[in-house]
Amino acid sequence: MTLSRLWGNILVLCCGLGWIVETGDAYTWTADMPHGNASVEYRLKQFLMRGYDITSRPVRKDSTAIDCQLGMSLFHILDTSERHQTVSALMSLRVHWRDEYIRWNRSEYKIDKIWIPARSIWRPDLIITNYANDEYSDYINTNAIVEWTGRVMWTFPIVVKMYCTLDVRYFPFDTQDCNVTFMSWTYDGYRLNLNHTGAKDQKVYYEPRNQEWMVTVIVPWRENQMYPCCPEPFPVLHFTIHMYRRYLFYVINLICPCLLIYCVSFLGFFLPIESGEKVNLEITVLLALVVFLLMVSENMPPTPDAVPVVGLLFSVTMVMVALAVVMAVTVTFVFFAQPHTPPPAYILRLARFYRRWRRRPAATAAAAAARRHQRVHQQQHILCGG
Ligand SMILES: *[C@@H]1O[C@H](CO)[C@@H](O)[C@H](O)[C@H]1NC(C)=O
Ligand SMILES: *[C@@H]1O[C@H](CO)[C@@H](O)[C@H](O)[C@H]1NC(C)=O
Ligand SMILES: *[C@@H]1O[C@H](CO)[C@@H](O)[C@H](O)[C@H]1NC(C)=O
Ligand SMILES: *[C@@H]1O[C@H](CO)[C@@H](O)[C@H](O)[C@H]1NC(C)=O
Repeated sequence: MTLSRLWGNILVLCCGLGWIVETGDAYTWTADMPHGNASVEYRLKQFLMRGYDITSRPVRKDSTAIDCQLGMSLFHILDTSERHQTVSALMSLRVHWRDEYIRWNRSEYKIDKIWIPARSIWRPDLIITNYANDEYSDYINTNAIVEWTGRVMWTFPIVVKMYCTLDVRYFPFDTQDCNVTFMSWTYDGYRLNLNHTGAKDQKVYYEPRNQEWMVTVIVPWRENQMYPCCPEPFPVLHFTIHMYRRYLFYVINLICPCLLIYCVSFLGFFLPIESGEKVNLEITVLLALVVFLLMVSENMPPTPDAVPVVGLLFSVTMVMVALAVVMAVTVTFVFFAQPHTPPPAYILRLARFYRRWRRRPAATAAAAAARRHQRVHQQQHILCGG
């Protein structure tokens, strides 16, 4: 009897706790003033938020489309991964729209704007469609600033990792265009008319000190897209971040060593054969080049669409050095051959063929010259005779 009552109490307690935890996040707008006199902002919020429904679009007429403007500021390029074709950036978004239920009489309340946590009012459900993180993180619950006319400005910082096609053909002298694409996930263009705040409004606060990238400009761009789900058009906003790489690091650490090693491989031709180091030198140079090629290929995307020119440079250099190895081995072989062994038959045949080939063009050229001389002579003869 007592045991079952104990269990019942525990159950009630748990339910109560669960209820407290569940409602802990919500904002309660009480009608009574609990602390005596209150500020104007407090009273105004009590007045505005009583009966406010955050799930319905804040328009008085259902056919009205909400004009929603989106602006973007870039604070930092955190990371780029050419291999995975992603860019991480820290940026700040500004979203503007008009909420027709949050309006007040300015001369009555003597206050122009109020700050409200954005989670307690209606918000457009914006989604970044080229998002590359493992999970969609929610935005930080920042304040929205609401003016007496109902105009809402909501700004929040966000760290985004996004897919974007990084064309590495001219790495490290490349420029990249990276898109951040926004759309409303459920509201079509007739209910939420998404647009950008203008090309001049997209600011770059990025200071590339000790950084790899320079950002030149952010260009916004709007398009209407149709999806198989619905007959209505969906506005999609692209913000294209134009940026270019500061290449000095790669020139000093990648390209200069490669060219230097390539030059060293020429020294092998001047090395006397007696030293016995000819082949060693070329092989060492070849290995050094392989290390550099590995460094390049580690950072590049494994795709055949854009083969980086730097990779080609290393490959061609390797082919040349490999040829040098072959030559060094041949020369060494010939040098250390027994003094009176005759050369192999195929070499003799090659040499004979080469001699014949050298002689023939000379002979034909002489014959052609003789023929030309004869023709000219004949023409002169005819002209003079006529
Ligand atoms: C409330 O305001 C009235 C007048 O504005 C003032 O007389 C009163 O002392 C205030 N009460 C408190 C608790 O501040
Ligand atoms: C706003 O408040 C002032 C002062 O209380 C009043 O005279 C005016 O009529 C109000 N305006 C509206 C549109 O309600
Ligand atoms: C990025 O946006 C531009 C328009 O600004 C578009 O032309 C281009 O195709 C987009 N790039 C990608 C990879 O979506
Ligand atoms: C979007 O905004 C730009 C500039 O603010 C404007 O030129 C353009 O007409 C707008 N587009 C639509 C469909 O409202």
